[in-house]
Amino acid sequence: MVASSASSLILLCLTVSLLLLLLPLPSHCADPDPLLDLCVANLTASTSSSNFPCKLPSEVTADDFVFDGLSKQGNVTNLFGVAVTTGNVLSFPGLNTLGLSMNRVDFGPGGINPPHSHPRASEIGIVIEGKILSGIVTTKNVYYGKVLTAGQVFAVPRGLVHFELNLGQTKAFFFTAFNSHLPGSTVLPLSLFAAAPSIPMEVLTKTYLVDEDAINAMKSKFVF
Ligand code: GLV
Ligand code: MN
Repeated sequence: MVASSASSLILLCLTVSLLLLLLPLPSHCADPDPLLDLCVANLTASTSSSNFPCKLPSEVTADDFVFDGLSKQGNVTNLFGVAVTTGNVLSFPGLNTLGLSMNRVDFGPGGINPPHSHPRASEIGIVIEGKILSGIVTTKNVYYGKVLTAGQVFAVPRGLVHFELNLGQTKAFFFTAFNSHLPGSTVLPLSLFAAAPSIPMEVLTKTYLVDEDAINAMKSKFVF
């Protein structure tokens, strides 16, 4: 009797663990396939996920499928000399459920799009103007980098850390596209030194093997 209830308990635990393993992790899973022709995001509806409910079909207009936010140069007068303008479901509701989005990335001379990763999408980009060093780092810490000029295309596998640096003395820009309507972006220097509330000092000093002054010096650069 005792043995059979113990084995039922083990079976239950195994089943629960298996189900948990099979559950998609919302922040890292790919966009689901669309189930409808059109599902323009109703951005005013409250939602706890990155999938928005659809607008009523009677409220959909041609403008829902057009976005002109990437036509203008972004403002690059900031710490990094870069402007990332996003065309994702939040700014372009017609993308909802399509598994697609785009960015425009503008650089001042020497500007950098600092090391970052997209948890929910792979990326492809095309340089329109300038001379860009595009680099990625694999999960085995292998670095691949290449200098690109107008017309050249680069790819970034989902979740990998990558960056782009304008090597030229003039402005530069490119467009990127993602296989998610909301790829997300974790910008490493900001995650580590500008998180709110802050990551505990002890974590940062022990991670970077430096003292508190060095960490405070880093943090002081990211007070916005
Ligand atoms: C470039 O890396 C981008 O995320 O648009
Ligand atoms: Mn990117």
